[in-house]
Amino acid sequence: MSEIVDDASPRTGAMLDDILSFIRTHRCYHHHIFEDWATVGPDAVTVGALFHQIQNFCAATRPGGRFPDSLSALGFDEQSRLLREIVESEDGHGPELATMAGHIVNRAADEIVCSDLDDRAAVEAKLRECSDRLLSSIPGYGADDGLAVQTRRAIAVFDGRNDSSRDATIRNLGTAIALEMVSNNHLIPGEKQCLVDSGLYGASMDEPEMHYLLEHYGEIGAEQQHEKNAIEAIVSVLDEETAPLVMEGARDFLDSLERLWDLLDSVLLQSGLATPQPNHA
Ligand SMILES: [Fe+2]
Ligand SMILES: [Fe+2]
Repeated sequence: MSEIVDDASPRTGAMLDDILSFIRTHRCYHHHIFEDWATVGPDAVTVGALFHQIQNFCAATRPGGRFPDSLSALGFDEQSRLLREIVESEDGHGPELATMAGHIVNRAADEIVCSDLDDRAAVEAKLRECSDRLLSSIPGYGADDGLAVQTRRAIAVFDGRNDSSRDATIRNLGTAIALEMVSNNHLIPGEKQCLVDSGLYGASMDEPEMHYLLEHYGEIGAEQQHEKNAIEAIVSVLDEETAPLVMEGARDFLDSLERLWDLLDSVLLQSGLATPQPNHA
């Protein structure tokens, strides 16, 4: 990473530093949701509800939409290649996240709630059921998608990937760098902390059901490479005109994810406000 910055002009280096430090000092980047998860040790229904919101958010971050093509159309071929590499490496992560979530729900329940961890649709339907039971009374909860308003807003930031305009494409680079830095340094380590290190679920990184986490975590994990790619893609497009747009894209991502973490943390992990509704399923 440092060699990329070393090659840049001092002005570009300073703009990159501003962006990286904006992301690193944002509250979202240090959110206590995963510590609270590890401390509270939520029950199986709560775990399912958390995973329902989280997996829907994560699913929205994987597709590239028109973003890689829009970069090429603007003459940013190398940036397009770097982004395409990230998108391609996301292949198969949806089913693996479902497997891990179902496995953790089973461990939290101390019985088999999700009987076939390879059946993504069945696991996700269970997670949805948990979410409906705990969250359906919060304002704006979607009866159709089972999503909180905050989840929908965090997802909507990625709709920008279908806007091919120059400004949107540069903003999308900012969203990408914030996403990859948060994934690599907060989200994935946070999941490891609450799912594995907490000892709550007797889960370990070498269990096949936990492959999602192994694949994403640490020095050789997918997120490390994604972060590197995203920084490399940004550094060569930074100038006085693009830097504010990159910052805007990063801010949209961080602010919306911060609100999502606040919601899940306050309703599901701290206040105990959510009480299960009778299950009519
Ligand atoms: Fe992934
Ligand atoms: Fe990533």
